[in-house]
Amino acid sequence: MRKNIIMGNWKMHFTIEETEEFLNSLLPKVKNAKTEVVVCPPFTSLALSSNILKGSNVKLGAQNVHFEEKGAFTGEISPNMLKNLGVSYIIIGHSERRMYFGETDETVNKKIHMCLKHKFNPVLCVGESLEEKESNNMEKVLTRQIEKAFFNISEEDAKKVVIAYEPIWAIGTGKTATSFDADNIISFIRKVISGIYNKEVSENIVMLYGGSVKPNTIKEQMSMENIDGALVGGASIVVEDFERIVNF
Ligand code: PGA
Repeated sequence: MRKNIIMGNWKMHFTIEETEEFLNSLLPKVKNAKTEVVVCPPFTSLALSSNILKGSNVKLGAQNVHFEEKGAFTGEISPNMLKNLGVSYIIIGHSERRMYFGETDETVNKKIHMCLKHKFNPVLCVGESLEEKESNNMEKVLTRQIEKAFFNISEEDAKKVVIAYEPIWAIGTGKTATSFDADNIISFIRKVISGIYNKEVSENIVMLYGGSVKPNTIKEQMSMENIDGALVGGASIVVEDFERIVNF
């Protein structure tokens, strides 16, 4: 049985004060959640969030990590810094990082290696652009992203990676993929994983859908065979929405 995960990606939102207010309001509302609940605050809010989340059922995630242990990398955050804060999950290769911050399939692969070395669960984001979808290149793009991300990752480690399928055209646009389409594509992703490793690995990997997930879309999404959870952006920073998504 695969784990179900509802993960909130706060992106570049929330000061320290806003973080405190949000989490104090959220925690009692999601304490009976049936899924694993994860919040991914910006780096500046991680330490505070870590304290507030202690003893709760909500896990801490980070939005990025650097692929080196330490050194002269101005502006970067190392795996040890995150380990120290009690981070469990790290989002890797989000399309916004690929699009605006030069993240490549190669850096994604290095970061996944680093996450696994430090016993984090990487949350690998993959997804096609509208142009790639319309030119029928979706399967090719997803296959490339996955094969490169898993390069030289052992079978045992591969099972610790969470994959988030996030079509770029659905992120922050209010256009969500239909549950049926998302399920089909995630089933395709399982086939790609099965081709790299085997069926057992592909059936063990937790796979999320992301892209305009809202309280009124989550129930159907969660009923699909291949979808194990959601990576939520915009709706994860509105307490009432995130609560309804978690308690779908
Ligand atoms: P969205 O973002 O829910 O606002 O579309 C999802 C994501 O980028 O992870």
